[in-house]
Amino acid sequence: MTDALGREINYLRLSITDRCNLRCRYCMPHDVPAVGHSDILRYEEITRLCRIAASLGICNIKVTGGEPLVRKGCASLVGELKKIPGIAHVTLTTNGVLLSEQLNDLLAAGIDAVNISLDTLHPAHYAEITGFNCLDKVLAGMEQAVAAGIRVKINCVPLATTPEDELLQVLQLAEKWPVDVRLIEMMPIGSGKNTAGYPMPQLEQLLHRTWDLTPSEQKRGFGPAQYYTAPNLRGSIGLIAAVSHGFCGQCNRVRLTSEGYLKLCLSSDAGLDLRALLRGGATDEEIRTAILDAILRKPAHHHFAAGMPETRPMWQIGG
Ligand code: 5AD
Ligand code: SF4
Repeated sequence: MTDALGREINYLRLSITDRCNLRCRYCMPHDVPAVGHSDILRYEEITRLCRIAASLGICNIKVTGGEPLVRKGCASLVGELKKIPGIAHVTLTTNGVLLSEQLNDLLAAGIDAVNISLDTLHPAHYAEITGFNCLDKVLAGMEQAVAAGIRVKINCVPLATTPEDELLQVLQLAEKWPVDVRLIEMMPIGSGKNTAGYPMPQLEQLLHRTWDLTPSEQKRGFGPAQYYTAPNLRGSIGLIAAVSHGFCGQCNRVRLTSEGYLKLCLSSDAGLDLRALLRGGATDEEIRTAILDAILRKPAHHHFAAGMPETRPMWQIGG
């Protein structure tokens, strides 16, 4: 499907829960109430919507959260999504804590790739950022996923207070392993509104000082990352400057929250309440028409600079 600006929308980010087993400082406070179970879409509702979305041209689905692996049956859902005609790739964004436990089920279900959030390799700093002392589990999950041969990306959100050598350690994962390490600019969403990120220009300088980088034209995903390769890198290094360099002109995505709200843009409330349609007895055709109509209202670009009109925090959107 194509929006009013001619952008081809083929990528769906699917949040299956707003719950998370970590509390990253820039994302989720400790005391947020979870959305009630009956307000969250059931897996049958999700697969029905994904089947309809696939018939409209969605071919790639990223399962996200919160933390998707805290919802029971996530791997089975991946298996169901993989069976939908037209769906080419199903991938997962996870904090990695439960990855090692669930990797075999995910592989059996046909998962195509995983993105693992990892902001530092320093155990005490990891615990300080996420609230939990579980870096070992995340690293075990990462190593097993690489060994299994699926594509692995590391998502790192550098904080203003993170020392340079800690960032370099994370980046060096791309020297040791065939993984893509992406540095993500802090976005003014959730607790990110009052957490300072590492300034992008300094990140770029750090990268270029450390490696002889060549911009990679080869796209390694469906998103806005600029990737670089270097002779001594087994994987690549990516920069996602969501706020400072707009990538809205090439935006190919929509999002579905765990409560069944189709979000047209990360930075805006604009969208469509699909749960109301599903539970109000709408037919597939009615839902298709409603989605096509909503897509035409997809905002032209984000409004991070103007302040965030989006009221949902990141753990309800899934990034
Ligand atoms: N800015 C940028 N990235 C964020 N994430 C969570 N909150 C923010 C924020 N405010 C990231 C997580 C994870 C991904 C799903 O979103 O670190 O990698
Ligand atoms: Fe959980 Fe991810 Fe938010 Fe951290 S960034 S609290 S892992 S949802």
